[in-house]
Amino acid sequence: MRILSGIQPSGPLHIGNYLGAIRQYIALQQGNDAYYFVANYHALTSVRDAARLRQYTFDVLTDLLALGLDPERACVFVQSDVPETTELAWLLTTVTPMSWLEKCVSYKDKVAQGLPAEHGLFAYPILQAADILLYDADLVPVGQDQKQHLEITRDVAERFNNTYGPTFKLPEPHILPQVAVVPGLDGRKMSKSYDNTIEIFDDPKTIEKKVRRIVTDSTPVEAPKNPDTDNLYQLFALFADEEERAEMARRYRAGGLGYGEVKKRLAALIAERFAEARERRAALVADPARVEQVRQAGAERARKTARIVLERARQACGVG
Ligand code: TYM
Repeated sequence: MRILSGIQPSGPLHIGNYLGAIRQYIALQQGNDAYYFVANYHALTSVRDAARLRQYTFDVLTDLLALGLDPERACVFVQSDVPETTELAWLLTTVTPMSWLEKCVSYKDKVAQGLPAEHGLFAYPILQAADILLYDADLVPVGQDQKQHLEITRDVAERFNNTYGPTFKLPEPHILPQVAVVPGLDGRKMSKSYDNTIEIFDDPKTIEKKVRRIVTDSTPVEAPKNPDTDNLYQLFALFADEEERAEMARRYRAGGLGYGEVKKRLAALIAERFAEARERRAALVADPARVEQVRQAGAERARKTARIVLERARQACGVG
């Protein structure tokens, strides 16, 4: 099966990115034909400093490799190394009704948060559709916030197919319910724009500091607590194994458990989970030529596939 997904280099990756998406990338690279990329064209809608964008792009590529993407198994590349993407985006844009983009929540959210209402932000879902359709993807592992973009991708592909004849495969989203929306420190979705993130590669001290900021209620230590409605427990459950989860839930209900203790354990679990990746990351940062080599090989492989699909689309609509 062809798997594809992308991640924006708009800052350091957080544990919502990891649990909601990257962990699935890693699992799906086994036994599938997987393509994963750093979406730097998309990041241009928010990062307006060339040096910073270059650095973030390198950082995210490095992070993905350190976390376990294996260039021997998956094609790992940078979006802008495949300029075919932007040509396909134009072909798709010509069959996309304005009203489909006007209803997109991510655009409305970002404008509500104060980002200027630029055309790139508005047309963002079409570029994403191009990313996906350009590789004949079957399955797209993402978090819940990308679901609408996947629906638009399918709608645009269908519209193009209906207009010009069968050209694109219709992709399916792959969203795991238990990690579809990883909560942040304040209980809302973990997101850079809410300043409620824990970064994957924060050092253990910083992780501890951030975990201490997780919002809890004012139930006294001795009182029984409900793990099901506690944001701290939700995060804890994402890192603890089944046995520890069950024991912690029992202790919540029994009373006599302070949130401070849970936070301490959660911080340790997070640091532990990424300890090996942190070491691999340090080795990669010390060897940027290795990362560059992966980037170039990925670009070459991705372009090979992209050129075939783009040509199919060009022929279909009469510009080929
Ligand atoms: P981005 O860069 O915002 O996020 C990358 C991935 O992380 C997931 N994610 C989360 N999942 C669960 N809980 C959270 N709190 C959380 N925060 C982020 C996102 O759902 C995403 O899967 N538009 C995309 C990038 C993109 C793309 C694509 C994705 C560009 N082209 C083609 C798939 C296919 C984005 O901004 O993701």
